[in-house]
Amino acid sequence: MPDTTTAVEEVSEAQIAVHWKEEEYYRPPAKFVGQANLTDPSVTERFSLDKFPECFKEYADMLTWDQYWHTTLDTSNAPFWKWFVGGKLNACFNCVDRHLTRYQNKAALIFVPEPEEERPEIITYRELWQRVNEVAAMLREFAGLKTGDRVTLHLPMVPELPITMLACARLGVIHSEVFGGFSGEACGVRIADSGSRVLITIDGYYRNGKLIDHKANADIAVRMAEQNGQKVDKVLVWRRLGKQSATATPMIGGRDYDLRDVMKEFAGQKVAPVSMPAEAPLFLMYTSGTTGKPKGCQHSTGGYLSYVAGTSKYIQDIHPEDVYWCMADIGWITGHSYIVYGPLALAATSLIFEGVPVYPDAGRPWRIAERLNVNIFHTSPTAIRMLRKAGPDEPGKYKYHFKHMTTVGEPIEPDVWRWYYTVVGKGEAVIVDTWWQTENGGFLCSTKPALDPMKPGSAGPAVPGIFPVILDENGDEVPAGSGRAGNICIRNPWPGIFQTIWGDPDRYVNTYYRKYAKNKDSKDWRDWPYFCNDGAMQAADGYYRILGRIDDVINVAGHRLGTKELESACLTVEEVTEAAVVPVVDQVRGRVPEIYITVKPGVQPSKAIEEKVVRVIETSIGKIARPKEVRIVPDMPKTRSGKIMRRVLAAISNSMDVGDVTTLANPEVVEQIRVSVQGKAKVEQKTGPEDIRKFGQER
Ligand code: WTA
Repeated sequence: MPDTTTAVEEVSEAQIAVHWKEEEYYRPPAKFVGQANLTDPSVTERFSLDKFPECFKEYADMLTWDQYWHTTLDTSNAPFWKWFVGGKLNACFNCVDRHLTRYQNKAALIFVPEPEEERPEIITYRELWQRVNEVAAMLREFAGLKTGDRVTLHLPMVPELPITMLACARLGVIHSEVFGGFSGEACGVRIADSGSRVLITIDGYYRNGKLIDHKANADIAVRMAEQNGQKVDKVLVWRRLGKQSATATPMIGGRDYDLRDVMKEFAGQKVAPVSMPAEAPLFLMYTSGTTGKPKGCQHSTGGYLSYVAGTSKYIQDIHPEDVYWCMADIGWITGHSYIVYGPLALAATSLIFEGVPVYPDAGRPWRIAERLNVNIFHTSPTAIRMLRKAGPDEPGKYKYHFKHMTTVGEPIEPDVWRWYYTVVGKGEAVIVDTWWQTENGGFLCSTKPALDPMKPGSAGPAVPGIFPVILDENGDEVPAGSGRAGNICIRNPWPGIFQTIWGDPDRYVNTYYRKYAKNKDSKDWRDWPYFCNDGAMQAADGYYRILGRIDDVINVAGHRLGTKELESACLTVEEVTEAAVVPVVDQVRGRVPEIYITVKPGVQPSKAIEEKVVRVIETSIGKIARPKEVRIVPDMPKTRSGKIMRRVLAAISNSMDVGDVTTLANPEVVEQIRVSVQGKAKVEQKTGPEDIRKFGQER
């Protein structure tokens, strides 16, 4: 139930809606339409609800199956969906081997190192095949990994990352890649949760002009995993710099192995791809949710790969001839689906960039695009805002031509969209604003690039075969064009949907299905709408505008951070008694966390304590979670039952009106905190974005 102790709720949804004006449409450029994969409007008919689930055969048929499936969708254990049951295939074979006859000499991956003087490394399909085979042989013979085992990868943007992933897929070993920027501790927690005995890492990598010692994180990760009950037998270390070492951290005898040496034994070896059941897990991807514990989203082999291949073809418009660059990190779901599995399933050339977009300057991405003739570009609103701020005229200085551009991960402001369209895309590229989540495997909403007009700030209609519905708290439908927001859900399962949360099926059901399940014993998918945990509204034209998370997740620079994870880290600082994390609007990164803490009686508030809190956030999660401010307050605003009112703190941090707080247990503290943050003068009544207004609301 919504908490009624503050007046923030008094602003109606309709009032919020008017802050957002309807934007004009942009038509897909004719040149794009002329070459697009999906130009037949009958796709809507082919993927209509009455054709569900058989419509997804169209995607599955883009793959090569060792054995065809007999049941498209098995709902007998709803909401644990099984796609393409009876089918067998190998994901690595589909992304590599099957392209050898036509494309063995074509670039599969182009690795662009961050130092500009280091040349791009081009890996053909033939070479990728050989390297993947060698690594698979090593994983099987040396690391002792077999089908169904989990292995944790903590790798940055280097070619060894997709190569290792594909080698795992070749053996049916379940990979769990932890974003390279996450701390050793965060990695260790994920190793333990997944039950990995092997950690694959690298000595170092370049980031923002610096050589980062990454091996140091492995030692912390192993220690942390052990504290959480999981022993790591082997740490396999790739090398970034040929002969030299990129780390000062010593190797531990009997545990750490230098892959540069180990791999010599496996040169030229070959390993047959293991034919896997369609519903065998392909990988785990950890993400944040409402509780402190990260969730290991388990993705399937056949359903997932079909879905990313299909959406890469129809929405990303990937052809084998394209040079495709997704600037996300492979350590997030976007990279798994739309740098590695989707593009490679279609025999595209996929570019991997090691560094940050603005290093050494804001012209870097456009120089890369010009040099390598990139024609499809994919990035996040944060990167776009960053590039615009650092070099608003840079794109015009380079002779590249994009036919297609993607934005993903956060809502994009119409103004930023227009800069992307006009300056980055030079008015020649179609844009897709793709909305989806780690749990989803692939896109949920986006325009079909050659068929639907674009509307800045809107993700567009649902993609083929996806049927969203916006529900209110009572489960009633919020109609399109009503100007009201609600909880966006998907009526139907789809092949890319995750299978479960690793080791926690109850949490899977409770988080995503319990709220709106019509009948908990039903085996009919119609009774199990998928609850996305996002707020959204639908315009009269059917386009969805995504308003952001409605759980306690903050979307920082397009990445999900759980506030509970941050808060529990703060509580490990000995001076801290209570911690509350709230999102603050940031011009570049979308949202950033701000932390409120109280300290133990007798402890003097100090800069040193604030710095300790910042450090603990960096070591337990990573630099990405660095708070904008740490504020030591005399007390937290609380309800009479003692619950911290995070919504009040979020309002204060975002210069919003806190509303009526007289029913709180300690209303006077609100004014004290407000004055210390905002200054003496009372701020004007100001309503903030939906995710911030709704933040910390009890559900
Ligand atoms: C948000 C990233 C608006 C949303 C693929 C979602 C978006 C969360 C968009 C998932 C978009 C993603 N417009 N918001 N185009 N794309 N989001 O799991 O709140 O890292 O729930 O997956 O990002 O983030 P995740």
